[in-house]
Amino acid sequence: MPEIPRTILLTGATGFLGSHVADALVAEGWTVRCTVRKTSNPRWIESLPVERVTADVRSAEALAVALDGIDVVVHSAGLTRAKSDADYQRVNAEGTQALALGAVDAGVRRFVLVSSLAARGPDRRASDPGPAGDRPTSAYGESKLAGERRLFQALTEQTGTMQGVILRPGGIYGPRDEDSLNLFKVAKTGMMPVPTSKGRLQPVYVKDVAEAVIRAVARPDVDLKPIPIVGPEIVSWADMGEALGNAVGKPVRLVKIPDAVWQVSGAVAEAAARLVRMPPQFDRRTADDLSRLDWTADPREAESSLGWRATTHLREAMEETGRWYREHGWL
Ligand SMILES: NC(=O)c1ccc[n+]([C@@H]2O[C@H](COP(=O)([O-])OP(=O)(O)OC[C@H]3O[C@@H](n4cnc5c(N)ncnc54)[C@H](OP(=O)(O)O)[C@@H]3O)[C@@H](O)[C@H]2O)c1
Repeated sequence: MPEIPRTILLTGATGFLGSHVADALVAEGWTVRCTVRKTSNPRWIESLPVERVTADVRSAEALAVALDGIDVVVHSAGLTRAKSDADYQRVNAEGTQALALGAVDAGVRRFVLVSSLAARGPDRRASDPGPAGDRPTSAYGESKLAGERRLFQALTEQTGTMQGVILRPGGIYGPRDEDSLNLFKVAKTGMMPVPTSKGRLQPVYVKDVAEAVIRAVARPDVDLKPIPIVGPEIVSWADMGEALGNAVGKPVRLVKIPDAVWQVSGAVAEAAARLVRMPPQFDRRTADDLSRLDWTADPREAESSLGWRATTHLREAMEETGRWYREHGWL
């Protein structure tokens, strides 16, 4: 049980990851205040003993009220899909800045930012020119990197003693995730279209990520250097197909789609979504992420800075997720 500080402001608790973080914080005995919006669906936090406060991260006034008396901020709110690049910036970069500045003013002691591996970009290849460093390949990744930088600025340019911790999860999956649900639905047909190229992924189970957040909240003296939060194993599409097949109780045959077709379908889906003014479910970024690129990281970084390592393996986590979808009538 952590000693002090005790009161946490959690943003994004109505979302997939944030709701699991809320569960974990409550289970650890923290006093939790969650930001919600007027439009939020509070289904995942309804039965939790948490306080709710209405605040959009784009409103400094609402954030000031939400931050009153808070010791630690966990900032999980963010846009993972947006109608435009500017929307990503407004929420993921400017929203993080507004919250960080408000937190410094309110005397918050620690600020845990849920960023993304997308802020770093895909794995570097030997042939990549230039020095190593962050190279996001999407508007989403750029906005997450900008959010990290705005937090850094708030910490260094303002007077105060707030500490920052930046977590960069890879792809997250698990119960309550509507994105992974699509994979399960496809797997149930017994056939799964996958890109021909060999993208390697290191997805991480949502409950493991929530545990990493708990460590980031409680552990003294964590460096501000972004910490990759990835799963225990690097997986291929064949591994994914095998784990999904096991989870849905039916072997899954992988149907290889040529990369060019894969990329074009991402572009077409994105254009169609723009026409109807909806954030796209599948777009050029997702097409790229899932095919040409590798998204892996060294888990030892999180181990040395947080004392955390993901423990749930793909097969077991997919099984648990599939069971949850079935129990909740999603699958
Ligand atoms: N899912 C992944 O694979 C993944 C991987 C790496 C990093 N991340 C990061 O993890 C965080 C959570 O992602 P998620 O998958 O849980 O997304 P999610 O299910 O879409 O949840 C997003 C949350 O952010 C809130 N939010 C969005 N815009 C807001 C605004 N303007 N003001 C206040 N709250 C706002 C949403 O509130 P409403 O309920 O009101 O919409 C919701 O609670 C994000 O920062 C994301 O970048 C996710």
